[in-house]
Amino acid sequence: MATRKKAKAAKAKAKNKAAAKKSARKVVKLAPRKKANVNGLPKPSSKPYGQAGKALDGIKILDFTHVQSGPTCTQLLGYMGADVIKVERPGVGDITRGQLRDVKGADSLYFTMLNGNKRSITIDSKHPKGREILDRLIKYCDVLVENFAPGALDRMGLTWEHIHKTNPRMIVASVKGFGPGPYEDCKVYENVAQCAGGSASTTGFRDGPPLVTGAQIGDSGTGLHLAFGICCALIQRQRTGRGQKVLTAMQDGVLNLARVKLRDQQRLEKGPLTEYSQYGEGIPFGKAVPRAGNDSGGGQPGWIIKCKGWETDPDSYVYFITQAPVWGAICDLIGKPEWKTDPEYATPPARLPKLRKIFDTIEQWTMTKSKFEVMDICNKVDIPVGPILSMKEIAEEPSLRATGTVVEVDHPTRGRYLTVGNPVKMSDSVTEVKRSPLLGEHTDEILKDVLGYKAAEIAELKNSGALNAPQKAEKAA
Ligand code: COA
Repeated sequence: MATRKKAKAAKAKAKNKAAAKKSARKVVKLAPRKKANVNGLPKPSSKPYGQAGKALDGIKILDFTHVQSGPTCTQLLGYMGADVIKVERPGVGDITRGQLRDVKGADSLYFTMLNGNKRSITIDSKHPKGREILDRLIKYCDVLVENFAPGALDRMGLTWEHIHKTNPRMIVASVKGFGPGPYEDCKVYENVAQCAGGSASTTGFRDGPPLVTGAQIGDSGTGLHLAFGICCALIQRQRTGRGQKVLTAMQDGVLNLARVKLRDQQRLEKGPLTEYSQYGEGIPFGKAVPRAGNDSGGGQPGWIIKCKGWETDPDSYVYFITQAPVWGAICDLIGKPEWKTDPEYATPPARLPKLRKIFDTIEQWTMTKSKFEVMDICNKVDIPVGPILSMKEIAEEPSLRATGTVVEVDHPTRGRYLTVGNPVKMSDSVTEVKRSPLLGEHTDEILKDVLGYKAAEIAELKNSGALNAPQKAEKAA
C-alpha cells in the first residue's frame, strides 16, 4: 500500500516537474522574441515628444499642506502631472486663501499662485468620519505631503506607524522648520529659516543689519527640496516596494542654498577673503563670514552700478562682473585701454585693492546707457552683466510668457491673474497650468469618483459634520 502511494507521489512529482519545465521553456522561448523588452526596459513610446502623458501621470498626492512651503512642493508635482488632492479644513481652508486679499471675497493671489493644478476636498481630520475618509485616501494615494507644526499630524492620529500599516507603499513627506535637535518643536516661517540657515547673516551691507532676501528661499526653496526628495522616494519604492519618510527642514534647505558662505567660513579660517571688497578697502575680517553687499558670490568681482535714469527709476541698475578673461574688452568699452597693460590694473590680484575705483569708473560709462543698452553692448563682447529687472518688467516680459514661465490664468471668482508656471521645462512632459480650486470644489467628485462613496453615503457624511464647517453641521442637526 505504502509502495503504491510512494509510486503515485513520485509520478505526480515527475508530472509537475515536466509541466514546470515546459512552462519555464515557454517563458525562455518568448523572452528573446520580445525585442521591445531588451534589457527588461519597456518599449519607448511611439507618440511624438510631449504627447506621451506627463512625468508624474498616475501618481496620487494626498496634499495636507498649507501656507507656502508645502504648497510650492505639491504645485510642482501637479505641474508634472500628479493628481494632487488638497485636504482643507471645512469652512476655513488654507489660511492663505484669505491673506493679503486684493479682491474682496475671492481667494488671494497668495493662495491662487501656490495651489494651481490641485483639487480641493474639505475634511475635518479630527472628526471620526473624517478620519475614515482620510484612511481611504491614504490607501488610494502614493504620497502624503504635509507641513503642519511639529506633532500636528500625530495629534490627528495620522502617525507614521498608522499610515505605514494602512498603506506600506505610502511616502510621507514633511517640511518642518528644524530637523531633530534643540529647535525641532518650533513653528517656523520664511524669515526665521533665512536667519537660521545662514542667509541673513551673510546678506546686506557690512555696516548695516542682517537682511532677508525677497526670494522665498525658506519656504519655496524648501518645497523644491521636498519635491526632489519625493521623486527620489518614488524611484526607490520601485525597487523596495515600500514607502518612507522624507523630511526637509527649512534650516537645512536654506543652508543648502547658502553653501558658498559655509565655503567662505572655512576659507576665512585660513586667511582673508580677497574677493570681498572689504579686503581691498583694508577693513579687517572678524571671525565669521561678513555681509558682502553686492559682491559677487563667485571668484569674479562684481557689483551693482547705476544706469541712465537711475535718479527717477529705482531699478535702473545693472550687475556688472569684471571677469578676468574679458578685462581687455571692459577697458576698451569704458575708455580706459591703458588699464589693459598698466601693472596696477592688468592682473586680477592687482585690481583687488582698487575695486571701488574700478566700479566707479565703469559706472561713469553705464550711467550714459540704459540697463538694456548695457546688456546688449556687453553681451556682444561676452562681458557678463544682468539688468536689475523690476517685477513689473518681469510680469510684462513677452519671452517669459512665451516659455510658460509667467502664465495668465482665469479664475471664476477673482478673474484673470498671473502665476509662475513650471520653472522646469521637459521635452516629453509638457506643463499645463490650471487655476487653483475653490474651497472644497472637488469634495463630491473625490468622494464619488476616487473613493467610491454612494450618493446616500455622501449625504450622510455631509450631515455628520465631517465635511462641513462646524456651524453648518450644527444648523443641519
Ligand atoms: N481638520 C481639522 N484640523 C485641521 C485640519 C483639518 N483639515 N487641518 C489642520 N488642522 C489643525 C491641525 O491639526 C492643528 O491642530 P492642533 O494644533 O490642535 O494639532 C491646527 O490646525 C493648526 O495647524 P498648524 O500647522 O499648527 O498651523 P499654525 O497656523 O499654528 O502654524 C506654521 C503654521 C506654518 C507655523 C506651522 O504649520 C509650521 O511650523 N509648519 C512647519 C514649517 C513650515 O512649513 N513653515 C512654513 C510655512 S510657509
